[in-house]
Amino acid sequence: MSKTGILFEHVSDYLQSVRRERTGWLAEKEKIWRENGFPIAEPEVGDLLEIICTLKKPNRILEIGTCIGFSSMLMSQTVPDAVIITIERNPVMINDAKINFEAYDKSHRITLLEGDAADILPKLEGVFDLIFLDAAKGQYPVYFTDIKRLLSSGGVFISDNVLFNGYVAKGSPDRHRNKTIVTRLDEYLHMLESDTDFKTVLFPISDGVTLSVKK
Ligand SMILES: C[S@@+](CC[C@H](N)C(=O)[O-])C[C@H]1O[C@@H](n2cnc3c(N)ncnc32)[C@H](O)[C@@H]1O
Repeated sequence: MSKTGILFEHVSDYLQSVRRERTGWLAEKEKIWRENGFPIAEPEVGDLLEIICTLKKPNRILEIGTCIGFSSMLMSQTVPDAVIITIERNPVMINDAKINFEAYDKSHRITLLEGDAADILPKLEGVFDLIFLDAAKGQYPVYFTDIKRLLSSGGVFISDNVLFNGYVAKGSPDRHRNKTIVTRLDEYLHMLESDTDFKTVLFPISDGVTLSVKK
């Protein structure tokens, strides 16, 4: 099986072998950050974000889970005029993300909200054309009500890591302490798929990614 356990290894290897690498400053950083173990979006999730940003041309983007800022900078690189709000609770990541936004001259376009998404989301106002959810997996069902409220009509919603190494499909986790995450992601996927205000597709790429449009 592949690294994330959701694809056969030969399929995963083949997909990687045909994929064209990104180039440029951010792509160089992406490689280093990945090698150093930062939990940034997998390469093909980055590709998906680039494609959706190119198609949708969002004016306002909300990201939940900044880490050190890779995906928000990638989206900003794709749609330079977009306003991006990104949420992060880990002080170490917040510090690094701020340094990276400065280094890439993106501080004027990307606003980092510091704190727990569960506290910040209910206070946000206005609507976003694209929302990217990439934070604590066990909290995905909790965030969904606010995400729905904050997404514009015709807006696109992407959530990452929804299959949790394939354990969601198996219905059981590797370790007992991951049982809640598996249960909640399963609940979340059913919630999203059954919501008739959305059209959703679940891609078995990376660790499972949903792509939804709000009708
Ligand atoms: C997978 S990483 C995000 C990667 C980032 N989107 C990228 O591709 O560059 C998840 C991040 O979400 C943050 N996070 C997890 N739960 C959170 C929460 N409840 N509120 C805010 N941030 C959270 C973690 O600290 C971590 O940095």
